[in-house]
Order: sequence, then C-alpha cells, then structure tokens
Amino acid sequence: MARIDDAYNIFDLRDKAKARLPKWLFEFVDRGTEDEVALRNNREAFERIKLKPRVLRDVSGRNLATTVFGKQHKLPIAIAPTGAAGMMWYQGELELARAAKAAGIPFTLATGSITSMEKIATEVGGTLWMQLYMFQDRKLSLELVKRAENAGFEALLVTVDTAVSGNREYNHRNGFSVPFTYNSRNTLDVLTHPRWLFGTLGRYIATGGMPRHENYPESLRKQLGGGFGQAGRRNDSLTWDDLKMLRDNWPGKLLAKGVLHPEDAELAIANGADGVVVSNHGGRCLDATMAPIDALPAIVKAVGHKTTVIVDSGFRRGTDVVKAMALGADTVLVGRSTLYGTAVAGYDGAARAIQIFQEEIGRTMALCGCTSIDQLTPELLEYAKIS
Ligand SMILES: Cc1cc2nc3c(=O)[nH]c(=O)nc-3n(C[C@H](O)[C@H](O)[C@H](O)COP(=O)(O)O)c2cc1C
Repeated sequence: MARIDDAYNIFDLRDKAKARLPKWLFEFVDRGTEDEVALRNNREAFERIKLKPRVLRDVSGRNLATTVFGKQHKLPIAIAPTGAAGMMWYQGELELARAAKAAGIPFTLATGSITSMEKIATEVGGTLWMQLYMFQDRKLSLELVKRAENAGFEALLVTVDTAVSGNREYNHRNGFSVPFTYNSRNTLDVLTHPRWLFGTLGRYIATGGMPRHENYPESLRKQLGGGFGQAGRRNDSLTWDDLKMLRDNWPGKLLAKGVLHPEDAELAIANGADGVVVSNHGGRCLDATMAPIDALPAIVKAVGHKTTVIVDSGFRRGTDVVKAMALGADTVLVGRSTLYGTAVAGYDGAARAIQIFQEEIGRTMALCGCTSIDQLTPELLEYAKIS
C-alpha cells in the first residue's frame, strides 16, 4: 500500500492518486469541462476571501461539531456523491463510507455507484444520504427512492444541474467512453498502472466480474446491458414538478443539489425541498459558472433563515471550510478530496483525507480565535462580495 503518512495535505494525496490510477480514470475524477474555467475559479474564489482573525481569546477547548437536520456531526463536512469511489479502490465505496462513519460525518451514495444502497446500509450504517439522478422513466426513479427509504437513508439529494452531460473532451482523448469499451489507448494506460490493475480491477474480476450499477433497477440494467459507466439517466425534461412529485413520495429530508441562483433556491423550498446544495458539480458540468462559495451569501440571505444550505465544489483546505461556515453554510460536501485518499489507500487514505480537514479546520479556528462552529460569522472575513 502506498505511504500516506507523508501526505501532509489534500494536494499530496492528489499526487499519489495520480501515480496509482490510469490516466483516463484520474482525469475523469480530477478534471472539469471545456476550458476548465469553473474548475480553476472554484479554487481561486477561496483565495479572494481573506480571514480577519481575532486574537488573545482562550481557544483551548475547540469543538468542530455541527448540526444538520437536527443531528450532530463531528465535523462540518460530509462526503459528496461521486459514483467513482468504487473504481478508486476495491470496494472503495464501502471503505469511504466506513471512514465517514468512523469520523462521525454523513456519507452520500451516488445513483451511479457500484455498491448497492442496501449493502452500504447493512455493512456500514452511520448517517447515510442518497443522491438521485432521475431516470427517463420516473416510475423507475420512484423504485429507487423506495429502496432508499427502506434501507434507512436520511436524505435524498436530487441533482438538478445536469439537464445534459457536461462536455469532457479529455475523456475522448483518453479513450474513455460511456459505455466503457477497451481500446488500444486505455488498455495501455491500464497495463502501465499495475497497482490499480491488480489491486482494484483485478480483484473485481476475480470476485465476480466487472463493476456495475447496483442501484439501477434490474429492468433498466438489463436494458442497458450492465457494466460501469452506463448512463441512461440524463433527463432534460426535469422540472420543479418532478421535485414536488419526489416530495410526495419521499418522507425523509429532500435537497436540490446544484443550485447557484437565489431564486432557484426559493423555488426549491417552495416545491417542498428541505434544503439546497449550492454547487457547480465541482466544475464538471457547465463551464464558466460562478464559484459556489461566491453564490453562497445571496442564497443564505434568501433562504438560510428557513432551510438547510449546504455547499460544495473546490474544497481542499480547512480554511475553505471555515470560510463557507462563516458565510452561513450548514455543512460542506467534499468530493475529490476524499476520492484522492480512497484511490491511494482505501479506508486509510479516505480517513487520512478527513483527518487532514479535521486538523486544518481545528487549527484555522484556533488561529481565528474561535472555539465552536457557531462563532464562525461573516465578521471573520474580508470579502467584497458579502451583501
Ligand atoms: C468523479 C466524480 C463523480 C461525480 N459523480 C456525481 C454524481 O454521480 N452525482 C452528483 O450529484 N454529483 C457527482 N459529482 C459531483 C460531486 O457530488 C460534488 O458536487 C463535487 O465533486 C464537489 O466538488 P469537489 O470535487 O471539488 O469537492 C461527482 C464528482 C466527481 C469528482
């Protein structure tokens, strides 16, 4: 297993993940779309927000706990849905979910994951959220929603920012297509990354075959022919009525994931959502979108007093999380950061990524003169965009 004790930050884990994964898989995880403006801007936006710390306060008893949907979690982060952890490491979704549970934070399973929601619930447990991509056939989506309810998932995150697929040109260059097919480019790529070939792909093949979308209804899986990377879910006819329909069919917490406009946040709440995830999908969908951290203040102002506001995209440092909490977020989703960790060392790597956030958030709070998350307020920030 790769060393993780010399990974001092998330960028170190990223470097190690890059070395272990085939290029097509690493870039699938790491990159954005088109000119990657949104991807870069997600990081640059954090640099534009400066901290204005307070000093000489007793910060010896720090508590990083935060409450979401009335439940306390140990840290102000949760695992974002990615549908890729299972390809980072053998049974990577289970490993990542276990690391989340051990750290006392929620884990979100993606519709496109290769581990079934029932398996995650019975073998791991903890606070589980489910991400939903609607299928063309809404009845099939309701089957999935029912399964999530029966498996005890607390929240449903309906992704609303992918009416069509984002334009990922590097996938074509790398020979990575959906559905996945082997060709000379990606085969050579896999063969030159033996740790991933034998440690991840080989173990799947040795224990029952190629990964497939375990959460897809059986009828749809048959129709698609199974296999990793099969889509069949894009839905450019989705409207607010669909959210309302889900509200009528889902008794748990309901969130719209992928909102950047305050009026859409209002509409989500008006149509039954219990919260929104302010997100540009980590820069993986529409390029040139504003950074979610820049969209956050207006959305908090519009709906923060009456609903849960979660944010994601580009979070790599504890200071990023502290800034989001100071701007009024209830918690932060992390996507790639824990995927890099999982790719490097399964459970241990995922746990290391979470630990890095924990240490950095704690250190930042101490240096800002804060002992609890509710002390993180806009007064801590020097930020031109606060309205
Ligand atoms: C490889 C990968 C796959 C993803 N798959 C999904 C998905 O299936 N559904 C979804 O709503 N978001 C998906 N996302 C977006 C994440 O949920 C999250 O919004 C994003 O990763 C946050 O940005 P970050 O990676 O910079 O933390 C995916 C992200 C990555 C990196």
